[in-house]
Amino acid sequence: MISRKKLIAGNWKMNKTSADALTLVADLVASVGRQTDVEVVVCPPFTSIETVGKAIEGSTLKLGAQNMHPEANGAYTGEVSAPMLRALFTTHVILGHSERRALFGETDVFVNKKVLAALKNQLKPILCVGESLGERESGSTLKIVQTQLEAGLDGVSKELAPSVVIAYEPVWAIGTGKVATTEQAQEVHAFIRSLLTKLFTEPVAQKVRILYGGSMKPANAPELLAQKDIDGGLIGGAALEARSFVELVSAAAAVQ
Ligand code: 13P
Repeated sequence: MISRKKLIAGNWKMNKTSADALTLVADLVASVGRQTDVEVVVCPPFTSIETVGKAIEGSTLKLGAQNMHPEANGAYTGEVSAPMLRALFTTHVILGHSERRALFGETDVFVNKKVLAALKNQLKPILCVGESLGERESGSTLKIVQTQLEAGLDGVSKELAPSVVIAYEPVWAIGTGKVATTEQAQEVHAFIRSLLTKLFTEPVAQKVRILYGGSMKPANAPELLAQKDIDGGLIGGAALEARSFVELVSAAAAVQ
């Protein structure tokens, strides 16, 4: 069986000025910037991308953005493109986060355009999928996840698919302190892997990392990360402090 390197990504959301971002990332570089057991990605707001990028130079940390526009340039006020991110040595980009879908009206079709644009520009998309509380309670979790996944990956080739990272983030678990049970999370992760097998073949599906996101903390991470199809975490709140984020990296290293 292929062993997938665990990936811990910090989504800082709309937090930290450049100065605060620099303080945090300097701590992370000192603590986990040399280890290679776990792939670690930090995703600051656009305003700190360049500062954080310079601070992680020479370390093993990688740089991610939280969003991007599918076009390379043009009259899209307030937006940022893949070539702009690449020019700042960004390697990853979170796409289709539930906050973008719910608060900014992003559709599956729009998210798909971004995924294709990211891949075209050698950026690794972290494609987020996940159901709301109402959808879980009405028993449509797998249907929702399937729709978001298949639409988000439409047109992605078998060759480029291993560059994609999937993040399963149940909306009801984000920022609420309510973490999915290991059984709930593993069930959806295994389902996602079975869909990836259908879309891209088994060997490709075995290479794709599927992260869990939603109130992941040092206390609940070891059990989640030990699941067969959980290959890491997309961390919100616990990524805002070096101590908890470093503990999450250690938890991932321990089950690697
Ligand atoms: P929390 O870890 O704060 O629940 O956020 C998860 C998330 O949305 C990461 O993208």
